[in-house]
Amino acid sequence: MHKPVMVREVMELLNPPAGGVAVDATVGAGGHARALAERLGAEGTLIALDRDATMLELAQQNLADAPCMIHFVHADYRNLPEVLHELPIEQVDAILVDMGVSSVQLDDPERGLAFRYDAPLDMRLDREQPTTAYHLLQRIKLNDLIRILREYGGEHWAKPIARAIIRRRDQGRMNTTGDLAAAVLEAVPKKFQEKRIHPATRTFQAIRIAVNRELDDLQPAFEAMAGCLKVGGVMCVLAYHSLEDRAVKHAFRNLAQRTREPTGVGGVGKEQPLTPLLEVLTPKPLEPSEAEIQDNPRARSAKLRAARRVA
Ligand SMILES: C[S@@+](CC[C@H](N)C(=O)[O-])C[C@H]1O[C@@H](n2cnc3c(N)ncnc32)[C@H](O)[C@@H]1O
Repeated sequence: MHKPVMVREVMELLNPPAGGVAVDATVGAGGHARALAERLGAEGTLIALDRDATMLELAQQNLADAPCMIHFVHADYRNLPEVLHELPIEQVDAILVDMGVSSVQLDDPERGLAFRYDAPLDMRLDREQPTTAYHLLQRIKLNDLIRILREYGGEHWAKPIARAIIRRRDQGRMNTTGDLAAAVLEAVPKKFQEKRIHPATRTFQAIRIAVNRELDDLQPAFEAMAGCLKVGGVMCVLAYHSLEDRAVKHAFRNLAQRTREPTGVGGVGKEQPLTPLLEVLTPKPLEPSEAEIQDNPRARSAKLRAARRVA
C-alpha cells in the first residue's frame, strides 16, 4: 500500500477551488489525486500524469468513483506544457509533483527496483524506454559509475562498489538484482555494513535515478510548469533527494526574483528588474511530522516546497 505523503499540508497549500482545474503530475496510486478530486468536486477537472503506464492503470482503477472529471495521461511531467496544449487546457489552478517512486513500484518483484527480490535488472519506470539497468551496467565506464553512485546515491563506498560491479559484469555475472546486491556486499567491508538500512540501498537508488534520468532538466521543467499556472494558482513539489529539492528551490527562486540581461543603449551594466512570476510560500521546505514518519517511514526524507503565481 502506498500512503500519500503530507496530504494535509499539500491540500492546505494548493487549496484548489471547487470547479477548478488541477494537475497531479505524478499520480502514482492516486492518494493525493483523490484528495484533489474531492476538493475540485463534480464541476472540477483533474489532469493525472504518470510516466509508468502500470501506475496510470492502477490510478484509473483506484479513482474510478472520484467525483470530478479526470484525464489520465501517460507522460513525463517534464512535458506538462505540451500535455496541456494537446487537451487543450490553457492554465490551471494547482499543480502537484510528488517525485521519485511509489512503494507499489518498489514492492513489485518484476520491476527490479528492490534488492529484496531477485529479478532481472530492469528499473525502468516507463517500460517503453529502451534502456534498462542491465543495458546501462553493460556499457558503463568505471568513472561514470563511481560518479553516479556518489552523486545520485551519496554512496561513501562508491569506488569499491563500482569496481565490484564492473568485475562481476566482465565475468558475465551482472544480470539480476541479486547480482547487484551481491557486488555491494562484496565491496563494503562487513564491519562498515549498516544495520539500519541494507548496504545496497544507495546503489539501487543511484542506478534507478540514472536509468530513468530522474534528475535531468528538472529546473527548466519546474520553471515551465510555473508558466502553466493561472495567476493565483499554486504549485507544490515533494522531493525526496537533495538534488531534486535543489532544482525546485532554484526554479522557484529564479522566478520569484526575475531579472533580465541588460539590453539596449543606456541599459548596459544595469539589471532591469522584471515582475516576479512566483511568490515562494515556503521560505524553508516543510517536512513531515514525527507522527507521520512513524506511520509512514517513506515520508522521512520528504521536503515540501510551494509557490504561487503572482503575475
Ligand atoms: C511518489 S509516487 C506518487 C504517489 C502519489 N502521489 C500517490 O499519492 O499515490 C511517484 C510517481 O511518479 C511517477 N513519476 C516519476 N517520475 C515521473 C516523471 N518524470 N513524469 C511523470 N511521472 C513520474 C512514478 O512512476 C510514480 O508513480
